[in-house]
Amino acid sequence: MTDADGTFQLPMPPQVQAPTVLGEAAAVRLGDAYDLMESLDSSSVDLLITSPPYWGHRSYGREHNWKIHEEWQRAGGTVETPPPYEWYRKAGGVLGLEPFPDWYVAHLVEIFERARPRLKGTASVWVNVGDTYFARWSSIRESGRQGLGDNARVRRRTPMGDYRQEKQLLMIPARFAIAMQARRWILRNDVIWFKPNVPPRPEADRLRLSHEHFFHFVLRPKEGRAKYHYDLAAVEPRAHDVIEVPVRAGQDGHSATFPADLIRPRILSSCPPGGLVLDPFCGTGRALAVAVQNGRRAIGFDVSPEFAKAARGTAGGTVAPAKGNARARRAIVKPGTPGGRIRKSNGAR
Ligand SMILES: C[S@@+](CC[C@H](N)C(=O)[O-])C[C@H]1O[C@@H](n2cnc3c(N)ncnc32)[C@H](O)[C@@H]1O
Repeated sequence: MTDADGTFQLPMPPQVQAPTVLGEAAAVRLGDAYDLMESLDSSSVDLLITSPPYWGHRSYGREHNWKIHEEWQRAGGTVETPPPYEWYRKAGGVLGLEPFPDWYVAHLVEIFERARPRLKGTASVWVNVGDTYFARWSSIRESGRQGLGDNARVRRRTPMGDYRQEKQLLMIPARFAIAMQARRWILRNDVIWFKPNVPPRPEADRLRLSHEHFFHFVLRPKEGRAKYHYDLAAVEPRAHDVIEVPVRAGQDGHSATFPADLIRPRILSSCPPGGLVLDPFCGTGRALAVAVQNGRRAIGFDVSPEFAKAARGTAGGTVAPAKGNARARRAIVKPGTPGGRIRKSNGAR
């Protein structure tokens, strides 16, 4: 079998060779994930799997207000108190381009909080986040992976202070995971995605950053231990929490596309057959396509019309504008009989 970028060759396990027709099981909605969470039925999502824009990496071609922290301070805010996402966005801020990592983390957590009522009690949330080194002057690309492609860049001066010091590894994934825990999410795994083929870097005083984090969160029940769908038989051999998957240029040449081999085991293990997979930052729609190819239904959101269109091409769904939710809903086929297991807690950690 070959996937959209012509590189994926693994056969699908027999139990998931569902005769799903791409285009009937997936939908793509155009807009901000913050708003579009409201378009989902409550308790409908089995698995949220996503990779949000990383902090300070890319603008995805969007206009950003580079003076936003000055405006926040004029409005009475401080660096230490992040503005709510609604204020930030209204003032021209773009997710991922926050002047401070803590603001970015706060906005991400706000968006995942809005997903919470849409999740089934047995759902999982998998979030892939990468880290960044602090530089007072950083360059932000319009698109593309580091070292892959020669894309347009803007230079921005990032305010220094506190732990934001030259050459500092910012530990953004850890800050995000801890902030999620503080909002009652249960962290089940911190999977290290080892990327064996990251391009060489010019720095001669540190090792190459060649891993990213893939966090697995579940809901904390009102009482007792978390119970959620999980099929350990569907993960990689040996079930280790370090996974080696090469990075590949995306199907649009440069986008940060999910490698199918990275997400397929997450989808198979954390979403029952016929269940609903949500990628609220779906980019080119790789998670939707892998979900549908494996007998799950899928919904993706993306704020960029280009990516939403690309996702539609990948997953075969409808591209619905923010207000076209009914239309998008019609593109979703009825679920198959949900299978899988609810994993009973046996006290193991
Ligand atoms: C890291 S990429 C995701 C790539 C994706 N995993 C794939 O396989 O192609 C992040 C995506 O989030 C989108 N995005 C950024 N801010 C957003 C927002 N507020 N709401 C929805 N999508 C957003 C970007 O347009 C981009 O496509």
